[in-house]
Amino acid sequence: MKKHLLTAAFAALLLTPTFQASAVDLKHKGFECSTCHAKGFTAPDRSTCLTCHKSDDIVKATEHFNFTTSFTNPVTGETKTSIAPVNPHDNFHFGRDDQCVNCHKEHKPSTTTCQTCHDIEPWGLKAPR
Ligand code: HEC
Ligand code: HEC
Ligand code: HEC
Ligand code: HEC
Repeated sequence: MKKHLLTAAFAALLLTPTFQASAVDLKHKGFECSTCHAKGFTAPDRSTCLTCHKSDDIVKATEHFNFTTSFTNPVTGETKTSIAPVNPHDNFHFGRDDQCVNCHKEHKPSTTTCQTCHDIEPWGLKAPR
């Protein structure tokens, strides 16, 4: 097991010979590179982030982005309300299954993906940390 991990880390180093650890900005200050890059220096899978961040917690933390819309039928006067599921961690398209790194970057500014197609300003959605 140990040997296997070392081999993987060494292979990753060989694949990216030009960068220097000291030149990489970290938002998770003081973390070891291998914490997120046990499988090499590529964008980590969401399962890596979820070893520390609990899905329930992040969903709850951003639940306030969901908002209620209501529409009153001008003919019948009937009002229908519904929730717009724009929570970045549990939303209309991806539920809870989106890849964290689509929005959260570690070594450069983060982003969101929704603005490609939606006007997200009324949603109050901004790029996270
Ligand atoms: C080994 C545990 C660990 C892993 C793996 C990890 N994090 Fe974190 N994360 C933390 C801790 C602890 C903090 C709080 C301290 C800090 O800000 O560095 C944090 C802070 C954050 C914050 C800021 C939270 C806030 O309140 O503003 C975000 C966003 C975040 N992590 C996203 C991610 C993403 C995305 C990944 C995967 C690429 C990831 N984390 C991987 C432990 C981890
Ligand atoms: C569609 C974009 C998007 C994706 C995908 C995404 N996030 Fe976020 N994340 C955000 C936004 C936006 C915020 C809120 C920033 C704010 O409140 O200003 C946030 C906030 C957070 C926070 C801080 C929560 C707090 O307590 O305030 C953490 C931790 C976090 N995300 C981790 C993750 C992890 C782990 C994943 C993958 C499972 C993930 N995110 C996927 C956009 C995203
Ligand atoms: C908390 C998780 C985390 C830690 C710790 C971390 N990285 Fe990353 N790394 C990422 C994420 C997320 C990406 C995807 C692109 C980005 O965020 O900039 C990435 C991408 C990379 C890439 C590929 C860049 C590319 O353009 O494909 C390199 C190289 C890299 N990291 C080096 C490092 C080094 C060196 C360290 C230690 C000093 C480190 N990382 C520590 C999360 C992490
Ligand atoms: C590639 C384009 C695209 C991206 C990116 C995208 N959407 Fe959408 N979205 C659409 C389309 C098209 C519809 C309407 C079609 C449908 O109902 O499936 C829609 C519908 C929705 C709806 C339901 C209708 C409404 O307005 O209430 C919500 C909520 C939503 N998107 C949220 C999001 C969020 C949150 C993100 C980012 C995580 C996102 N979308 C990213 C194209 C996109």
